[in-house]
Amino acid sequence: MKRIVILISGRGSNMQAMLNVAADQQWPAKIVAVISNQPTAAGLDVARAAGIATELVNHRDYPDRGQFDQALAHCIDKYAPDLIVLAGFMRILTPEFVAKYAGRLINIHPSLLPSFPGLHTHRRAIETGVKVHGATVHFVTADLDHGPIIAQAVVTVRDDDTEDTLAERVLAEEHIIYPQAVHDVILGKLTLVDGRVVRSLST
Ligand code: GAR
Repeated sequence: MKRIVILISGRGSNMQAMLNVAADQQWPAKIVAVISNQPTAAGLDVARAAGIATELVNHRDYPDRGQFDQALAHCIDKYAPDLIVLAGFMRILTPEFVAKYAGRLINIHPSLLPSFPGLHTHRRAIETGVKVHGATVHFVTADLDHGPIIAQAVVTVRDDDTEDTLAERVLAEEHIIYPQAVHDVILGKLTLVDGRVVRSLST
C-alpha cells in the first residue's frame, strides 16, 4: 500500500476530491496525513472528519524559509510517504526541500503552465484575453509553478467570464485531473524521460 501525504494551506477542495476518488476507486494507496502551514485552513477539519491524521507546521513559528522547510520535512518524514501532494499549499519551497523529495512531490496550479505561474491566474487570464485557460498537475522543481507536466485540463474562456466564474470552472476540472494524476503516479504509469512525463508502455 503506497502512502500519500497531502499539504494544504486553505479550503482543501482538491484534497477532498482526492479522498472521495481514493475511497470510491479503492486505491492501493492510503492518505496517511494532511499537513497545513495555516492554523485556520478549513481543509484540516475536512481531513479530521475523514479520520485522517492532521498536522500543523505554522511557517510563522520559524525565522526563515529554510528552517520552516526543515520542520515541514521532519513532519512529513514521520509518515514515510511515497508521494507528497501539494493541494493549494501556498508556500515557496527551498531548492533543498524540493531536491529531497525529487520525483515524489507533485503540485496542481490553476493555469495552463507555463502560462501564468504565481498568483491571480484567473484574473490575469481574463486580462490577457486568452481564449483557453485551465489547470496543470506537475512534478515540482525548484522554480515556482514549474516542472514536468503530468496532466492538464483546458477550459474555454467566455467573453462574459469574471474571475470567479472562470475559477469555478477551472476548479471543477482540477477535481477531476488531480486525483487521476495521483492515481497514475502511484500506480507507476508515468515515467520521466528527458524532463518530460510519458506514459509507461507496460502499465
Ligand atoms: C487550487 O485552485 C489550486 O490549483 C491552487 O490553489 C487552489 C486551492 O484550492 N494552487 C495554487 O495556486 C498553487 N500555485 P483548494 O484548497 O480548494 O484545493
